Amino acid sequence: MKKELKDWFVPWLSTAREYNVGILDKAWANPDHGRLMLNENPMPPSDKVIEAVVETMKNGNRYPDSYKRLRTKIGEMYDLGPDNVALCNGSSDTIDAMMRVFLQPGDEFILSTPTFELFPPRAELCNAKVIQIPVRKDDLQYDVDAMLNAITDRTKLILIINPNNPTGVFIDDADLKRFCDTGIPICVDEAYRDYNPDVPTSAPLIHKYPQVFLSVTFSKAHGFAGIRFGFVLGTEEMIKAFNTMFLPWNVSLMSAAAAEAIIDNPEEITAKVEHNNRWMKIFEDELTKLGLKPYTAHGNYMLVDATMSGKTTAEILEAALDMEKVYLKKIGEIHGKTGFFRVTPGLDEENERFLKFIRAYFA
Ligand SMILES: Cc1ncc(COP(=O)(O)O)c(C=O)c1O
Repeated sequence: MKKELKDWFVPWLSTAREYNVGILDKAWANPDHGRLMLNENPMPPSDKVIEAVVETMKNGNRYPDSYKRLRTKIGEMYDLGPDNVALCNGSSDTIDAMMRVFLQPGDEFILSTPTFELFPPRAELCNAKVIQIPVRKDDLQYDVDAMLNAITDRTKLILIINPNNPTGVFIDDADLKRFCDTGIPICVDEAYRDYNPDVPTSAPLIHKYPQVFLSVTFSKAHGFAGIRFGFVLGTEEMIKAFNTMFLPWNVSLMSAAAAEAIIDNPEEITAKVEHNNRWMKIFEDELTKLGLKPYTAHGNYMLVDATMSGKTTAEILEAALDMEKVYLKKIGEIHGKTGFFRVTPGLDEENERFLKFIRAYFA
């Protein structure tokens, strides 16, 4: 009997969760709408970055080398060597590769929920089992005991986003060490640490715990979400494994040039971080004044508990669009309650529109 096309696909293709990027088509089609729903950086690349990209474009007919100079510069930022750094096309690349490095069908991947929603589908596409442990009820912190209790002999990978997305909280060092002490591979995702220049990186952990690796992206504080650039930090053995899994030439000459240009111009990152952190403080104050509960956040996003308003998440998102043309991020129920949303600072004018919306809607 003739098979249908879908019958040729691996079975877990149809059962894996989908990561929905539909909101991006809407956002690009409506450039007058505030994009406060994605953890993007609202500030465009500097002329220095653009000039570096344009100059490099002239060599765009050539395959890249292994970017040793850039890996050396990144390594130095973390007291590591160039062979402790694997470059990639944004940390989504790392998310995909880490599943394929560690998970065989039936293996278990432990993470918390809510989370950055790309993680579960990429594990499910390896036919692995995703074990999601809800964050604690009171402070939305990782439920460390519950996560550790969920470990079985099939657990092959654990994720700690630090600070977490969407809750914005840092895990305690002592708790992070408890995970490392299990000996199970741990991904520490530091996508948002650059918003906290005073908080040290967890990179030194890799010296004591060779099964730990870090995932870093330039999509956030550096504003490279569309340029695409990220990297993995780990022992040389770990980095070799990732480089085997990453496609060769996964980072274009232009992305690498942009990355080097911004590393050489740290004031650009500082200005972006300051803009974000100033607005995060304003949002927190204004939301609190209105009787809502913003969670103190350490990234470029703020989780807001508006359950006390009696409005559902869907109603809030729709009203923000209707009243002030701002997109907010939908957050599913947390501990059975609707009315959570997430907001990311945009440009000044977009942020003013958000404030106008919350003052009118929640007053
Ligand atoms: C925790 C976390 N990791 C990784 C990513 C993916 O970032 P990238 O643009 O580098 O693929 C995101 C994006 O929002 C994120 O929140």
